[in-house]
Amino acid sequence: MSREFFGFRKNMANDSTIKAIVVTVSDTRKAADDISGRTVVGLLSEIGAEIVEKIIVTDDFENLRQTLFTLTEREDVNLIVTTGGTGFSERDNTPEATRSVIEKEAVGLAEAMRFETAKKTPTAMLSRGVCGIRHQTLIINLPGSPTAVTECFEVIKPILQHAVNLIGGKTEH
Ligand code: MTE
Repeated sequence: MSREFFGFRKNMANDSTIKAIVVTVSDTRKAADDISGRTVVGLLSEIGAEIVEKIIVTDDFENLRQTLFTLTEREDVNLIVTTGGTGFSERDNTPEATRSVIEKEAVGLAEAMRFETAKKTPTAMLSRGVCGIRHQTLIINLPGSPTAVTECFEVIKPILQHAVNLIGGKTEH
């Protein structure tokens, strides 16, 4: 596992800032060539999110499951965005690992990303990514390519802050 720290631990009380951890799921990527992870960091930063950490983990199911579980336990994080491991290959375990830790599935987010981006890129149908909530933390699976990351993020961007607010108990618009 490779870890890069970007921020400080913060108390989340009365603070609706998106505090995100970006998790690149890949057997081969290292920090130096993690373009998709960096793309997610850039897109989140553009909407004012605080990037707490960027992590690279292998596609190993148990390791990934444990990583996601541990990250959702953290009090300084309310969003986890994964990239990669959502396809049809044998080693693609991100949806299963995500589903094994979430308490509530956010079906609409995953469906919207697939539906909207498949209009232009039919291979979007090949992503099995899921989204869901555990311990006041939203987990979003994005596919692995930088293009897919950008296309999919564009779809959820307008509702991301509101989604995090709702999970944190802030119901007003
Ligand atoms: N979604 C969008 N919007 N754009 C893309 O280019 N690539 C697809 C799909 N989702 C793609 C996309 C492809 S080719 C694959 S194989 C799957 O995501 C799974 O990718 P992953 O295993 O890297 O997560």
